[in-house]
Amino acid sequence: MRNISVSDYRKKARKKIPHFLFEYIDGGSVSESTLRANRRDLDQVSLRQSVLKDVSNINTELELFGTTYSMPVILAPVGIAGLNARRGEVQAAKAAEDNNVPFTMSTVSLCSIEEVSGSVVKPPWFQLYMAKDRQFLKDLLKRVKKTGCEVLFVTVDLPVVGTRYRDVRSGLTRCNGIWCKFWRLLQILARPSWVWDVGVMGGPHNLGNLVPLMGSDAGLKDFLVWTDENFDPSVTWDDISFIRENWSGKIILKGLLDPQDASQALKIGVDGIVVSNHGGRQLDGAPSSARALPAIADRVAGAIPILVDGGVSSGTDIIRMQALGADAVLIGRAWVYALAAHGQTGVNDLLRLLREELRIGMALTGHTAPNTIDRKTLVDKY
Ligand code: GLV
Repeated sequence: MRNISVSDYRKKARKKIPHFLFEYIDGGSVSESTLRANRRDLDQVSLRQSVLKDVSNINTELELFGTTYSMPVILAPVGIAGLNARRGEVQAAKAAEDNNVPFTMSTVSLCSIEEVSGSVVKPPWFQLYMAKDRQFLKDLLKRVKKTGCEVLFVTVDLPVVGTRYRDVRSGLTRCNGIWCKFWRLLQILARPSWVWDVGVMGGPHNLGNLVPLMGSDAGLKDFLVWTDENFDPSVTWDDISFIRENWSGKIILKGLLDPQDASQALKIGVDGIVVSNHGGRQLDGAPSSARALPAIADRVAGAIPILVDGGVSSGTDIIRMQALGADAVLIGRAWVYALAAHGQTGVNDLLRLLREELRIGMALTGHTAPNTIDRKTLVDKY
């Protein structure tokens, strides 16, 4: 079967990777109501069809933080994504570079920032979690800066890890008993090609950025429990100054849903924000990103770029998010499904597919450049 949509890649990914990895990527928190709302609310955004406009010359490029990219799409940071294919973050970063879109590394990546930046020409963007150990954070920021990275996402919606039933059921986390370990082993053995590609050929299996903190077996431990123990739940707005003191590039706060928080972000002078509920993986019951976005866009009023994630899985979704007020979108699950399904080629194909869908969507809504898409592109008032 050919992969022509994100749902095709999702189906393929499910067959390629162990069940616990698929559930980690695919799942949300508690009843997954926010995860579902992300998709449902996007589906309900009606776009205004616009006819008899000259759309023979469409340019999907967009400038963001001083660089021109091929389209308003960014590969979102995703924890342990590198386990979904051999040295997965390297493959995804290469695909992103081939398509001239930014790739964002997660703090909890399998590959280290040095490994990924060493395999591409332009350094990736980096996502930071606030670990309790501030000296480690300072050193990590120095390592990131040394790669030439200019854009730092600071994730603010994960003071503690959300309650994720699927990860416990699958045995990804809190898997202490013999039966659970046996169940996890069965899931691994059921995917022999993954065992070869990632298990045998894809080492080292540790969280590359965290080796100084966790030791060289970093990641072989229960990484979600480790995250809960080592990330700092006491972080407040005041701590953003710690980052400012130790980072000279752009600072983007990731994980805002409330206009008041957006005002505060403007006040402390960050360079951008990501409207996000962490893919429905943190506060179940939080509004969808599509619902939260317009009020935040009104508050920010063009002062800084607004990025958004949450359910984006087609070119039309990119237009919807831009019409609701975003400058660009992050895709998370979508690229990981493609990576799990077909490695670098999968991510490459997915990005080409999204760009083509975006081009078609722009033609049908009468736009020839992404920055003209605004609320007038919507049928309903927001
Ligand atoms: C980490 O970012 C997670 O959502 O698991």
